[in-house]
Amino acid sequence: MGTIINVALPKGRLGEKVYKMFEQAGYGCDDIFNGRKLVFENKEAGVRYFWVKPSDVPIYVERGAADVGACGRDILLEYEPNVYELRDLGTGICRMVVAAPKGFRDESEYPLRVATKFVNIAQDFYSSKGRDIDIIKLNGSIEIAPILGLSDVIVDLVETGNTLRANDLEVYEEIMDISTRLITNKSGYNFKSAAINRLLERL
Ligand code: PRP
Repeated sequence: MGTIINVALPKGRLGEKVYKMFEQAGYGCDDIFNGRKLVFENKEAGVRYFWVKPSDVPIYVERGAADVGACGRDILLEYEPNVYELRDLGTGICRMVVAAPKGFRDESEYPLRVATKFVNIAQDFYSSKGRDIDIIKLNGSIEIAPILGLSDVIVDLVETGNTLRANDLEVYEEIMDISTRLITNKSGYNFKSAAINRLLERL
């Protein structure tokens, strides 16, 4: 029997885009968007997909439950998992930014109150500038924080800018460009390098 590559895909729009790249490369799977099932396999193509929470993708790959996974650069920088980047998939392109209410200026002598999901990225960014901050860790809908006065600014991802505009916020500073990376772990790659290299060629 041929090798099966186990692929961790982030649930949601991004994972669907990545799956379509795999499908076009000859790794399609029937009914993969069907209902609540989480594991899909195509033995002939030599592939098995798992739908997982986006921030969990590197955990599956790091521990070898998945041989490869698709994961944003934001997650790799935030959690620093022990994985290898095989390729920039060139999708999921967005920016990590500091955003604030229109007209905001960081002129206070107090620690800047920063709401974010990306605590480490925010901390690294501000410590490189020597600016003291007070981090407020949130898990979603970050844009609400400055509206309610919970924070001065947010550190978050911006793609179209629609969410910022709809909430009267604007980009205050750029932190970095983000895109989706195909990742693997050392032992999985060593063990299945022929199959993974074939996948890379076809993608
Ligand atoms: C992300 C991000 C922004 C939004 C940016 O949120 O956190 O809120 O997308 O996209 P835009 O610039 O195109 O409007 P996501 O949908 O992942 O949900 P979240 O609230 O859980 O972060």
